[in-house]
Amino acid sequence: MALLPILRFPDPRLHKRAASVHKVDETIRKLIVDMAETMYEAPGIGLAATQVDVHKRVIVIDISEDKSKLLAFINPEILERAGEQICEEGCLSVPGIYEKVTRSERVKVRALDPQGEPFTLEADGLLAVCVQHEIDHLEGRVFVEHLSQLKQSRIKARLSKQARITA
Ligand code: NI
Repeated sequence: MALLPILRFPDPRLHKRAASVHKVDETIRKLIVDMAETMYEAPGIGLAATQVDVHKRVIVIDISEDKSKLLAFINPEILERAGEQICEEGCLSVPGIYEKVTRSERVKVRALDPQGEPFTLEADGLLAVCVQHEIDHLEGRVFVEHLSQLKQSRIKARLSKQARITA
C-alpha cells in the first residue's frame, strides 16, 4: 500500500479527461487499494484517480462513519438521474473550501468492480453527491467550477495565499 500525493486546485492536471480502463488487472486493483488508503488518511469520503495524477476512470468512495463500506467504481457512467439537491461540498484537491453545489438527488450508476464485473447502483443523498463529484473529476471538472467566476477567482486567490504560507 502507498499514500499517493493529491493534486491541488488550480493544478492544470486536474483538468485532464480520464481514459476508460480497458482491462481490470492487478495495476488497477493496486491503484484502488492505494487510492482508498490515501482517501482514508486524508481523511476524505471520495477520491478520483485524476486527483492522484492517474488519468484513468477509477473512483473510490466511502461515506460510512467507520470506513467499512468502500465502494470502487471503474468506468462509472450515470444512466439515470432524478430530482435536485443542494449540498455543501468540499474536495481534497481544494483544501479548506466548502461551497454549496446543486446536483441530482438520485442517480443510477453503472460501473465495473475490482474483479472487472459490471454492477449498477442506485444512490441518493450524500452518496449521489459523491458519485457526481467524483465522476466530474474524471471529466476534468473540479466542484468549484460549478460556482460563479467571481467565487472561483476568490478561491484561487485564497489557495495561492495558503500555498505561499505552507511552502
Ligand atoms: Ni473532489
